[in-house]
Amino acid sequence: MKIQPVRGTHDILGKNIEKYNKIIEAVHNLAYAFDFRELQTPLIESTELFTKPLGEQSDVVLKEMYTFADRGGESLTLRPEYTTPMIRAAISNNLLNKLPCKIFGIGPMFRRERPQKGRYRQFSQINFETFGTSNSFADVELILLAYKILKLLLPHIKINLYLNSLGDRDSLKMYKFNLSEFFNNNKKHLSDESRTKIQTNPLRILDSKIPEDRKIIEKAPVILDFLNQESLKHYQSIKKSLKDLEVKFYEDNSLVRGLDYYCHTVFEFKTESLGSQSTIIGGGRYDGLIENLGGKNIPGIGWAGGIERIILLMKDIEINSNLIHFAILDERYKEYAFLAYNLLVDNNFSVFWNYKYNLKKSLSKANDENATHIIIIGENEFKEQKFTIKNLKNSEQHSVDFNSIINIIKC
Ligand code: HAM
Repeated sequence: MKIQPVRGTHDILGKNIEKYNKIIEAVHNLAYAFDFRELQTPLIESTELFTKPLGEQSDVVLKEMYTFADRGGESLTLRPEYTTPMIRAAISNNLLNKLPCKIFGIGPMFRRERPQKGRYRQFSQINFETFGTSNSFADVELILLAYKILKLLLPHIKINLYLNSLGDRDSLKMYKFNLSEFFNNNKKHLSDESRTKIQTNPLRILDSKIPEDRKIIEKAPVILDFLNQESLKHYQSIKKSLKDLEVKFYEDNSLVRGLDYYCHTVFEFKTESLGSQSTIIGGGRYDGLIENLGGKNIPGIGWAGGIERIILLMKDIEINSNLIHFAILDERYKEYAFLAYNLLVDNNFSVFWNYKYNLKKSLSKANDENATHIIIIGENEFKEQKFTIKNLKNSEQHSVDFNSIINIIKC
């Protein structure tokens, strides 16, 4: 019986695991530079953590969540995103007593989407959140952090930052009201799916990819015309700081993001190098969400980036450290050879121990694996207490004693 991986999931190995690890390393370094603390949450949460906050009309809740009743009958969901679990964790662990609370997490998410390049059913996100400040510098700080991570990992890729403001809850309420009215007047041209959202959540119609909907959406009112003074001030201050920091951005008044909790700033980093799954990082503010989940009435902002999408765009990583193979010509020499093996491991070299006592096979394996050196131990070496080290890049060969092994390999 040959069991295939579950559709939309994949194993990460070879060059991709090297890239994955490089991403994690870069994220950790920059997270600490910006003073964010790491937190991990469970993969399963109560379903109610997601249904209302993400939006009962959102694609994620309507079509994509992996929800099941556990054996005790409780409804559980494999986390489809990290913001609400992060808030739940901050509340559960009393992190909101000291504000601002700046946390990040890395790990797998689950959405039952139609798989294609850059879109999977299990994927990993890097996720940053700041709770407890409405200061526009929190928005700038998070955008700058995302910008620096992408610059570090994808210096060769053209990535554009798109920015919009949805305004505060009052501005957004006015906008939704006008949007409902507009869609109602045009409902005969809308798809059946969008028609059901006119009263409940007209913002979600803006996410529709159906061509007949797109024609109407193009003529819909834009949020910017509904922002009140306070919201405009917040938005303008972010734009000014980004200009001062020379972080280039484009304003996109149609950017509303696919989840319901957003208000004020929303942003996305996109590239044309990924096909249709063009968003690498997306995020924004979410005033009211923390309170709705049982926390204090404090604002929040954050973003998430898809690790698989970054991997697809990354260049192969050059590994230039030495890889050293062994050719032990008889089992009797293995204890002696092991002294050198142990020494090399202690000095942070990558070492491959060949279990076959055969020079030809060991040499051929070393060449196949692109080893830099091979240490040969035969009868002469054993008798004279020497090690023969062959440099496989320039074919130079030296017979050395134990204390000279490291020097010869390094030079
Ligand atoms: P999101 O836009 O749903 O936002 O996802 C963020 C990123 O996760 C996307 O831009 C993409 O790179 C990656 N992603 C999403 N779905 C998939 C998939 N099926 N396969 C591969 N990658 C995927 C959120 O999740 C929000 N929680 C972001 C946020 C944090 N907002 C505030 N704080």
